[in-house]
Amino acid sequence: MEEVLLVDDIPVEEASPKGGLITIWTLNRPNKLNALNNKIHEEIKKQCIRAESDDNVRVIIIRGAPPLPIEEGQKGKPPSFAAGADISEFENKNSDDVRPFFEDNAWEAVWNLSKPTIAMVDGFALGGGTELALSCDIRFASERSNFGQPEINLGLIPGGGGTQRLCRLLGYGKAMEVILSGNMIGAEEALRIGLINAVHKSEDLENSTISFAKKIAKKSPHTIKVAKRTIRASLDLPFSEGILTERSEFVALFDTEDKEIGVKAFLQRKDALWLGK
Ligand code: COA
Repeated sequence: MEEVLLVDDIPVEEASPKGGLITIWTLNRPNKLNALNNKIHEEIKKQCIRAESDDNVRVIIIRGAPPLPIEEGQKGKPPSFAAGADISEFENKNSDDVRPFFEDNAWEAVWNLSKPTIAMVDGFALGGGTELALSCDIRFASERSNFGQPEINLGLIPGGGGTQRLCRLLGYGKAMEVILSGNMIGAEEALRIGLINAVHKSEDLENSTISFAKKIAKKSPHTIKVAKRTIRASLDLPFSEGILTERSEFVALFDTEDKEIGVKAFLQRKDALWLGK
C-alpha cells in the first residue's frame, strides 16, 4: 500500500543527552502534489504522538516528496510541499461529514508539539499546505516555492488555522489580502512579508535546513521546550501577563541542572553536556 508519510530519523552525534535525532516527515503523494488526504492526517497525528513521547526526537522537519521521474508521454508534476487539503475529499460532503475530521486534524497536532518544528518547502504550499507550514515554528523555502490560501476560489475559507495563524504572523491587512484574493505568493515576497524565515536555492534547501535543525538539536532539550512554550504564550496572553509568564519560566530554569551545566561550560570555555533537565 502507498506509504503517504515517510519517516527518516537523522542521528545528531554531538547532541546531549546522547541519542538525539532529527526526524524528517515526507508527505508522499507526489502525483497529487502531496495533497493532504485523510490518510496523511492520520499518519502525521501518529508521528506527533511518537515525537512527543520519544525523548530522542529533538527537532521535527516536514517536507514534501519531490516529483517522480517523468514517464514517457506523460506531463511531469511540479515540485510541491503540499498543494492543499485533498479537494477530491470535499465533494458532496456536508458540515456533519467534515466536522469530525476538522476537529481532530494534523495542523493542530503539529502546532501542539512541544518540540521545535520546521517546514522545508520546495514548490507549492497552498491552502492546507501553507497552513501546515504555518503550524510549524519555522519555515524555510526554496526560490521556486509558492504559498497562498486559494480556498476562496472553492467557496471556502482556510480551515486548518490559516485565518488565525496568518493574521498573527503577517498582521491583519496582509492576512486579509492573502485570504480574500487567493493570490499566490512567491518565495521572495513570502520572505519580505515574514511568512517564511529564509529562502534558499532548491539544491541547498535540505542541507541548510538540516544544519539549522542540528544547531537546535544540540541545545538542552529541556530549555528548548521552555523557550518554545514561553514564546507561544505570547500568542494567547495580554502583554503584561506574558511578561509575568516569561519571568516565572526564566526563574524556574535556575532550579535545573542544565542551567548550571550551561553556565559552568561557558565559564570554563567547554562544550555543555546537557542532561535535559
Ligand atoms: N487536492 C487534490 N488533488 C490535487 C490538489 C489538491 N489540493 N492539488 C493538485 N492536485 C492533483 C491534480 O488533481 C492533479 O491530479 P491528476 O494528475 O491525477 O489529474 C495533480 O495533482 C497535478 O495537479 P495539476 O493541477 O495538474 O498541476 P498544475 O501544475 O497544472 O497546477 C496547481 C498546480 C498547484 C496550481 C494546481 O494543482 C492547483 O491549483 N491545486 C489546488 C490548489 C488549491 O486550491 N488548494 C487548496 C485546497 S483547500
